[in-house]
Amino acid sequence: MDAVASGEERAAVDELLGPPASGWAGAERDDQTFRVARSGREARDRRHLLLPALHALQSRVGWISPGGLNYVSERLTVPPAEAYGVATFYAMFSVEERPKTVVHVCDDLACRVNGAEDVCAGFESMFGPPGSRKTGRGWARSPCLGLCEQAPVALIQTSGDARPDRALVHVMVTDEEGRGAPSPFEGREGWGAARHGSPAAPQVDEIAPQIGDQGERETLRLLRRVGVVDPASIDDYRAHGGYEALRLALEHGPEWSIQQVTDSKLLGRGGAAFPTGVKWKAVAEQPVHPHFFICNADESEPGTFKDRVVMEQDPFAVVESLTIAGITTGCEQGYVYIRGEYPLAAERLGHAIGEARRHGFLGDDVMGHGTSFDIELRRGAGAYICGEETALFNSLEGKRGEPRNKPPFPVQRGLFGKPTGINNVETLINVLEILTIGGQAYAEIGTDGSTGPRLLCLSGHVANPGVYEVEHGVTLRDAIDMAGGMRGGGDPMAVLLGGAAGGFVGPDRLDIRLTFEDAREGGYTLGSGVVMAFDDSVDLGDLALRIARFFRDESCGQCVPCRVGTVRQEEALHRIASGRTLGTRQDEEGLLGDVAQVMRDASICGLGQTAANAVQSLFASFAMFPDGAGVAEESGA
Ligand SMILES: Cc1cc2nc3c(=O)[nH]c(=O)nc-3n(C[C@H](O)[C@H](O)[C@H](O)COP(=O)(O)O)c2cc1C
Ligand code: SF4
Ligand code: FES
Repeated sequence: MDAVASGEERAAVDELLGPPASGWAGAERDDQTFRVARSGREARDRRHLLLPALHALQSRVGWISPGGLNYVSERLTVPPAEAYGVATFYAMFSVEERPKTVVHVCDDLACRVNGAEDVCAGFESMFGPPGSRKTGRGWARSPCLGLCEQAPVALIQTSGDARPDRALVHVMVTDEEGRGAPSPFEGREGWGAARHGSPAAPQVDEIAPQIGDQGERETLRLLRRVGVVDPASIDDYRAHGGYEALRLALEHGPEWSIQQVTDSKLLGRGGAAFPTGVKWKAVAEQPVHPHFFICNADESEPGTFKDRVVMEQDPFAVVESLTIAGITTGCEQGYVYIRGEYPLAAERLGHAIGEARRHGFLGDDVMGHGTSFDIELRRGAGAYICGEETALFNSLEGKRGEPRNKPPFPVQRGLFGKPTGINNVETLINVLEILTIGGQAYAEIGTDGSTGPRLLCLSGHVANPGVYEVEHGVTLRDAIDMAGGMRGGGDPMAVLLGGAAGGFVGPDRLDIRLTFEDAREGGYTLGSGVVMAFDDSVDLGDLALRIARFFRDESCGQCVPCRVGTVRQEEALHRIASGRTLGTRQDEEGLLGDVAQVMRDASICGLGQTAANAVQSLFASFAMFPDGAGVAEESGA
């Protein structure tokens, strides 16, 4: 309770918040302090800075100490217990002292089938179990880091020095003498002997392979500028058609823009497939002001990395399309909420926002039209649930990222209780194409029920993993063929469609079409565009256990069906895997079915409602745990 912040901790927080204005907010207390008390609205207004302040502490000193937390609480007038509740909600924050450098090794599905367990074993032999501080160096297992096309991967989270967090791709274990790829930790004191190597970052055409094929790249609409423009140059962006769509939106006005988006029949790409035109119109019509618009860049669905590629390679497109969405729906302030594990994308987007402001594309007088709109970039801190729109609002407001009940819907009462529009990154960049070619022309692309282009995230055992742009209507087989087919040839044994919240399909279903209407009829989901294909070397039981662990870890715990159901699901799978069932195996499968039904029917949000989908799809169509044993039990750390 009485812990006091160190000078370094105070400096980190003051750098963000400015010096304390009074003795009640952390300054020296003097006579005045006891005559003027600031409270109420003025104090509450700064609560939304809690996450940035915790980030400041974490990245400066490597953890959130009791003294640091007390100082943040005082500065923002947030009760310390509440601030503690927020700090402990997010995986990237630590309230226990830990090493200044922590490597988060992804052991999720795409990395798992590409050697992640070997990487984890290598780390364990050198540095002890995950979380151990034996060597003064830290490592941890992590869910998907959104770099699946470069699996296996890791993220180095650093603090204190000037070196920012950074991703390690194609991590590999080298031999005892360190032969093989160079150590990612070379030059970093104490890490020199690490036996894990990471070759140079891949070329853009490796993460978006169509870019390398001149014939194919001419057909691209969403990835048109990826690999072509300099992501740091607004001039280059403009030379490639940038800011034409915003000019059209400003010239023709909001009604015209909403009409184009409505005519385009664009459906949201964040997973729920909600009509974007309907959402924009609803926000624009709300009489209560201010309105807010948010770009959902949280992208934490395992297997999804399309938004990251767009943000890293074409960040001005995200800034321009969010500006259009904001101005069209009557907002003056927009936010990009980006997942905390995307350091490069955050850096490039931050730069793009600054450049747009400097060149008059954001601010009080956007493009000289007298319209005011600005954007703030906010980083998440490692919580899958914060991609759910209402959890995201709570996170932005400086609260735990727990979903809210709906209604009221965000268009009525969203961020700070005001009308709010929110769209996924991919949804937003489609708007540039829609305004440029016209809504009706856009609606001709794809199929009747699923218009426009679509980004797919191909990973697993395909020959050329990466982000691919297709027109709605291609089959699953077409998509896998685009990625060069399976590495070893032949058909996949199983394909995970739509992410961990989606489901597995077998080789007998490769001719299904990737459209919203086909998915609805066929009982599968496109989700966030995940196509993760597995050959027959894979242990499906092991994948089921990893997915169950993911949902158990990521449940926010707010409602019983999901909090208990995700734990029960994992426990039953472990019992089946080990052959130590309660009753017969059929009894256990029956229990899993019941748990799935309850989670689907009674959970507050989409996480609980979909947490059993993938596991159930495996039991329905595949032989899992054939002899009820043989799946390695994991620490689950
Ligand atoms: C558990 C959960 C996680 C989600 N994560 C994301 C995400 O990372 N990115 C995203 O755009 N939408 C995500 N969504 C969907 C959002 O709630 C929301 O529907 C979406 O941002 C709306 O944008 P759209 O209409 O452009 O799809 C998630 C939903 C749930 C239930
Ligand atoms: S369904 Fe799960 S994640 Fe969603 S509110 Fe309930 S406990 Fe939280
Ligand atoms: S980055 Fe490892 S599974 Fe996605």
